[in-house]
Amino acid sequence: MMNAMTDQTLVIALTKGRILDEVLPLLAQAGVMPTEDLNKSRKLIFDSNLPNVRLMVIRGSDVPTYVELGSADIGIAGKDMILEYGSRGFYEPLDLKIARCRLMTAAPVGATLDAPRLRVASKFVNVAKQYFSEQGRQVDIIKLNGALELAPIMGLSDCIVDIVDTGNTLRANGLEPREMIAEVSTRVIVNRASMKIKHALVQSLLTRLERAVG
Ligand code: PRP
Repeated sequence: MMNAMTDQTLVIALTKGRILDEVLPLLAQAGVMPTEDLNKSRKLIFDSNLPNVRLMVIRGSDVPTYVELGSADIGIAGKDMILEYGSRGFYEPLDLKIARCRLMTAAPVGATLDAPRLRVASKFVNVAKQYFSEQGRQVDIIKLNGALELAPIMGLSDCIVDIVDTGNTLRANGLEPREMIAEVSTRVIVNRASMKIKHALVQSLLTRLERAVG
């Protein structure tokens, strides 16, 4: 079994999709390049030009898990995924300032949200629970995995908690942004043990990434 703790190699867990396209140029500037096109392969783990660095490509929601449990030393994940994961079991030393957006509540245009128990649809159930509990509002959270904007239209929920970038998806579905929950951007997270045991390797990569961010 592979154990990222015992050797001096770095495993970096990357978030697939939009974040990957924006992260690869930053990684290249930091001197790390996959040896093959990540988008053209069905493989999930890749070698890089550096003999001691390997790259995994996984769902953003799985990146914190791999990093906290130490099967990846470093992770690249959206702050939304980190907040939803909810643990402080890793370091978060660097903001890559890409894939910026906001976690917000949204509701049908003009709707008054005065039900005693709001029905909130989201894939960010932990974020939603925590936010409404801080507001002192009673809510029922409905877990969905995508196309959240449909939920209020179809009467499944009163409002949603979702990522808003341009706001086009909300507008196209008769919804409007309401309350801001958190600013989101892509972060670098580091396993706690790796930060100690592989300090020089990790620190050197962080420094080069920081320079690439500018
Ligand atoms: C996100 C989010 C919204 C949309 C917001 O979805 O869930 O649907 O982007 O962007 P906008 O404000 O610019 O319209 P994404 O495309 O990441 O896919 P998802 O449905 O898998 O979350």
